[in-house]
Amino acid sequence: MVNVRKITEDITWVGANDHRLNLFENIHPIPQGVSYNSYLLLDEKTVLFDTVDWSACRQMIENIRHVLAGRPLDYLVINHLEPDHAACIEEILLIWPEVELFSTEKGFMLAKQFGFTVDKQVCHTVKEGDTFSFGKHTVTFIDAPMVHWPEAMVTLDLTDGVLFSADAFGSFIANDGKMFADEVDFDRDYLDEARRYLTNIVGKYGPHVQFLLGKAAKVLDKIKIIAPLHGLCWRKDLMYFIDKYDHWSKYVPEEKGVMIVYASMYGNTESAAQALAGRLCEKGMTNVHVFDVSNTHVSYLIANAFKYSHIVLASVTYNLNIYPVMFDFLDEMRMLHVQNRTCAIIENGSWAIKSGDLMQKFIEGNLKNMTILNERLTIASSAGEEKDGELDRLAQAIVDSMEEVSTDTH
Ligand SMILES: Cc1cc2nc3c(=O)[nH]c(=O)nc-3n(C[C@H](O)[C@H](O)[C@H](O)COP(=O)(O)O)c2cc1C
Ligand SMILES: [Fe+2]
Ligand SMILES: [Fe+2]
Repeated sequence: MVNVRKITEDITWVGANDHRLNLFENIHPIPQGVSYNSYLLLDEKTVLFDTVDWSACRQMIENIRHVLAGRPLDYLVINHLEPDHAACIEEILLIWPEVELFSTEKGFMLAKQFGFTVDKQVCHTVKEGDTFSFGKHTVTFIDAPMVHWPEAMVTLDLTDGVLFSADAFGSFIANDGKMFADEVDFDRDYLDEARRYLTNIVGKYGPHVQFLLGKAAKVLDKIKIIAPLHGLCWRKDLMYFIDKYDHWSKYVPEEKGVMIVYASMYGNTESAAQALAGRLCEKGMTNVHVFDVSNTHVSYLIANAFKYSHIVLASVTYNLNIYPVMFDFLDEMRMLHVQNRTCAIIENGSWAIKSGDLMQKFIEGNLKNMTILNERLTIASSAGEEKDGELDRLAQAIVDSMEEVSTDTH
């Protein structure tokens, strides 16, 4: 059944929602689904901005046919070649063989690599700042390398002020009828998933996101609507979301708060993690969040590491090493360039306690600008009342170090 929504008078969403995919990029759980957004402009010419994942192809085609109402499709703008958006290019070419394509040089190169037969089409290779008119609507192309792939660009419709922002400003969670962030309680219901999407997918490329934000800032007065390839569009309060992106891409914590991540087999390290949480709350720091590393998907841990100012790592020793799942979290933080955080360490072991030193060494060797508090809590199998003073000093050190934290990006 046709399912479309208008973005402006001339631009319509013709994308689709996906609740069947378990793992985005075959790695990140998406329990609330995801949308693939594709947009169709009706002007003197008709223009499609990106396609959708292969699984959503039929829905998109049905939507496009409905909106075109018998008109031909004249142009396809390919902002991003990743198959969750580009998979249906070939289908478009089969149905509308006369369609002309716009993409970057790298975009066309990748199209060929992926086996999309674009040789017979008119291909417009665009560069930063190029403009093109489709009638009433003029667009300009802006390179967005590494947001999320090297070929990526974003397209600004100067007429309606719509920024087709590719993966930037996207989010997990299927749209399910909603189209604009002002139609939902974004802060309450969507922000966590937007953060998890961005930090896990382009967390590593903070400087590239900053570069794009810098370019967007120069044309901010022209941007009325942000239309990403996943999730909701923005037409109100754009600065709220731009500010979130600013935090994530500068690796500045959004909030003063503590995430306590523990790795525990028999429950003793877990017990210490819980006791620390209690002590912090007693001291007035109630923005405390406890995670069992063994049953929390690492994408959630990464998102929270980007959110909070403090990370407490509590791990058992395992074959003279860091507990493997905790090591995975640390390594993921390394890969995604998590930085500028204050850390504290709790270690446990029954005969050769190594995890604390190893975690400290890993952080010092691999993560930038991390402060590691001296007040480490060392547990030999289980912690009794004799550890109460140490626990208290650790909690106090965390609370005291909050004063150093800035959540300001400027
Ligand atoms: C497979 C395995 C390997 C372990 N390796 C070490 C080790 O190298 N050094 C050590 O001190 N304890 C080692 N331990 C013991 C645990 O780290 C220790 O019992 C710890 O107190 C468990 O804390 P928990 O109650 O939070 O699980 C190992 C335990 C297991 C099951
Ligand atoms: Fe992508
Ligand atoms: Fe995507």
